[in-house]
Amino acid sequence: MSHTATRSTWSNRWAFILVTIGSAVGLGNIWKFSYLAGSNGGSAFVLVYLLCVAGIGLPLLMAEILIGRRGHGNPVTAMLNTAEETHNSPWWAFLGWIGTIGALLILSYYSVVAGWIVDYLWQAFTGVRVETAAAAEAGFAALVQNPVRLGLCHTIFMVLSVGVVARGVVSGIESANKIMLPALFLILIVLTLYGAVVGDMSQALHFLFDFKAEALTSGVVIAGMGHAFFSLSLGMGAIMAYGSYLDRQTNIGSTCLWVVVANTLVGLLSGMAIFSLTFGYDMLPSSGPGLILQTLPLVFSHMPGGQVFAVFFFLFVLFAAWTSSISLVEPFVSWLTERCGIHRVKAALLTGVPVWLLGLGVCLSFNDWSDYTILGRNLFDALDHLTSRLMMPLSGLAIAIYVGWKMGRAVVGDEIKLERGAFALWFTVLRFVVPIGIALVFCYELGWLKWLE
Ligand code: PHE
Repeated sequence: MSHTATRSTWSNRWAFILVTIGSAVGLGNIWKFSYLAGSNGGSAFVLVYLLCVAGIGLPLLMAEILIGRRGHGNPVTAMLNTAEETHNSPWWAFLGWIGTIGALLILSYYSVVAGWIVDYLWQAFTGVRVETAAAAEAGFAALVQNPVRLGLCHTIFMVLSVGVVARGVVSGIESANKIMLPALFLILIVLTLYGAVVGDMSQALHFLFDFKAEALTSGVVIAGMGHAFFSLSLGMGAIMAYGSYLDRQTNIGSTCLWVVVANTLVGLLSGMAIFSLTFGYDMLPSSGPGLILQTLPLVFSHMPGGQVFAVFFFLFVLFAAWTSSISLVEPFVSWLTERCGIHRVKAALLTGVPVWLLGLGVCLSFNDWSDYTILGRNLFDALDHLTSRLMMPLSGLAIAIYVGWKMGRAVVGDEIKLERGAFALWFTVLRFVVPIGIALVFCYELGWLKWLE
């Protein structure tokens, strides 16, 4: 049955939990969560996000790991292997392709945003100060207007990501996560405590958790669900690829619980840290994608010990982005090595170069090419919308249908190994709640349910 040769396996269960948390925790939790919450009514967005993480994200995360482990191959091969075993059409492999290609599309703009962080880390190192809000905004504008600076930082980040994957699953991906993730958690705790002392934590908590029903619009619901997918790395092959290196003994359910809790915690804690500083220094939370870069440098410049703090903050964001981006590279690299027999280093290069080129296009979409739009959006926005709002939920929907309705209860139960009650609950949610939830949100997006408002 198998289309694959001998493959690597994570050193142990904790290594898998660590790398999966590494994939999940990224720019999504810090940069995207804070700016989306900031522009989507704060607590309303947070509530939808949390509901979607629990009701859709967790069950799908388990389903995706299940396919990866059962199929024992890169996302495309894993789909082929499981389809063959469960007597389904090989066409289901399209799901593996959507994920693998989607991951590369995400990486192309993810790396550009991570490049901003590289630039700001450098500024923090060299002690650049901003004295006024206008200067902070001008600083960010100057960066995105400069294609060379953007391209250079994007290149540095791509080299970092591709480099780790080229080193291999255990000695590259696992080792990098083992160093960066603990460092990341440590820095985050210090940041949050410091934010509580210097900033306005109570306003931040009100903003994030005081639910206001009138803020709950369809736009907020869509943004919240899309973000649950994005922040848990769902539907993009990354989790499937990581799951394929998992040993047979590990319990998927409890493992996923760890990942979801850690990922949510990092999102909420960094939200609390960022908003307490934003409010503490009288800045507005709704400035869009540039939020952490337009507000925080100003805050850092006025804070006691601000420079050291800034260096640690940007280092934290960089580590988070890096451990995620390697999971975006892995699906295609593993396909190239397993399917085409290409050496890992070469495969990493073959993956990295086209993504890097597309990323250069993204760099230009902020400046020289800003007049070229796709459905009214620049390339950066278009790629983000296509992946987070369309490809991820659609792929999630297909995974839920495949595991919930097509694979068969026997195979699924054999792989998931939950107690009867827990299994029945998970399986029912996966079969009904997940597809219906995603479909409803889609209908909203297409404007079919406008009359409900
Ligand atoms: N989850 C990552 C983040 O929050 C992004 C990501 C999406 C990674 C999809 C892999 C796959 O930043």
